[in-house]
Amino acid sequence: MDVIALDAPTDAQIRAWHEVLAAVHAADPAGDPAPHPDGTARLLLGADPGSRQRLWAVADGGRLVAVAALRLSGEPGTDRPGEIDVQVHPAHRRHGLGRRLLAAAAGGLRADGRSSVIAQVLAGTPAVPFLESHGFECVLTLRGMLLRLDDVPQERVTRLLAEAPAGYGLVRWRGVVPDEYAAALARAKHAMADLAEYEGTTWDAHRVRETAEAVAKRGDDLYTVAALHDGAIAGFTEIVVPHDAAGRAAQYDTAVVPEHRGRRIGIWSKAAMLAWLTETRPDVREIETDNSGDNAHMIAVNEELGFRTERESLEYQAPATALP
Ligand SMILES: CC(C)(COP(=O)(O)OP(=O)(O)OC[C@H]1O[C@@H](n2cnc3c(N)ncnc32)[C@H](O)[C@@H]1OP(=O)(O)O)[C@@H](O)C(=O)NCCC(=O)NCCS
Repeated sequence: MDVIALDAPTDAQIRAWHEVLAAVHAADPAGDPAPHPDGTARLLLGADPGSRQRLWAVADGGRLVAVAALRLSGEPGTDRPGEIDVQVHPAHRRHGLGRRLLAAAAGGLRADGRSSVIAQVLAGTPAVPFLESHGFECVLTLRGMLLRLDDVPQERVTRLLAEAPAGYGLVRWRGVVPDEYAAALARAKHAMADLAEYEGTTWDAHRVRETAEAVAKRGDDLYTVAALHDGAIAGFTEIVVPHDAAGRAAQYDTAVVPEHRGRRIGIWSKAAMLAWLTETRPDVREIETDNSGDNAHMIAVNEELGFRTERESLEYQAPATALP
């Protein structure tokens, strides 16, 4: 069985790739919805703006039995870590396929001038010994939480909304930020900087719009609620409803600018988001979110809203020199 590079995957290869993802998911569902063929196609064909992707697979005749994607954000030579994802069909594990794909991706990483790579995996799965035996170390824990909207009493949302901090007002928009708030939103996004792990570039109005346009290009819907104070955005929260969501939306950024913290602006904005979604998107039944394991404040806000912990993910990192 050979490792092949899929620089421009064909429809048949995308279907074969999807079969690997579906088999991996079936063996270990871990609370995530099953992958959808359209989602796999989008993943393989469209990289986010400012990022490139390289793909490899192990082929057995016409079938794929293992796949690997390496995401390279920024220009070639930027020293930001690459991101790797290796998936081996459950029937073909422990035969060294994961190691071979990792070696192929390591070559791609070095060729692009990167000095390290990260991978996000579920705690308690074979990925942990696999990565630890290849020079990776755990650098971050992430708590995956889920809110089932049916479990949220209407009175809770109404009460939280009524507890508006004095001097603040709410605005909301769907899709790209309206021009009047674009610069203010970019400034508020800086408030995320202390949480963002590998954020190299600064936020400006152009980048804010570009990120929202990328969501729209995928066919997904971005909803934003922001708290305003004297014309500035004090805090905001974003939800994305994927077009093939099957009822599950994803929490994107939530941030409160440092000088406005401690006034319950985060939970107030999130309650307003829940009320808005209930009104306009009755198809959304669940919201998922990942929080850094040491972000106790955001976890507490989410628990108060009704989010429950579903799984723990770990972020691993390795220097390129340690890879096979
Ligand atoms: C993690 C995964 C990619 C490993 O693939 P694989 O082809 O089985 O791994 P390899 O055969 O190349 O294993 C190489 C080494 O990793 C370690 N390893 C891999 N799986 C292991 C397991 N279940 N238990 C203990 N060690 C393991 C061993 O040291 C192994 O060497 P050995 O077999 O000589 O002892 C595979 O289990 C998988 O697809 N898991 C689900 C998706 C996932 O979590 N991907 C990780 C994202 S990077």
